Amino acid sequence: MKNILINRLREIQNKEGYVSEESLKKLSLELKIPISQLYGVATFYSMIYTKKQGKYVIELCASPSCFLNGSWNLEDYLKKELKIDIGETTKNKKFSLKKTSCIGCCDKPPAMLLNGKVYTSLTEKKLKDILKKCK
Ligand code: FES
Repeated sequence: MKNILINRLREIQNKEGYVSEESLKKLSLELKIPISQLYGVATFYSMIYTKKQGKYVIELCASPSCFLNGSWNLEDYLKKELKIDIGETTKNKKFSLKKTSCIGCCDKPPAMLLNGKVYTSLTEKKLKDILKKCK
């Protein structure tokens, strides 16, 4: 049942960009599952968004291999550059910044996802170039 639920949440997110409270209410009626339970599942998984996101969603890996290889430095850089904190979206709705657990690129840390695309062996210089290309 959990797989079906996660798939449904992802379908909604793919269609609407995030899973709104309204969508959770509809899904609750459709699946006959209390909305509190749906909300619990939606907020447990970092790749399900319950808030509207920016055009570009940056998910910086914070798991051990990346953390020990400087993701915490890159986190500071991104916060400063974008003028937002983790979990926030820039005022112009261009970037959202998140932390994620391991994305399977531990051999090339630090790593991140940008709208689902993987970037590895990150440095401040590389991040600067990536941000510049986001229009
Ligand atoms: S620890 Fe960052 S990708 Fe695995």
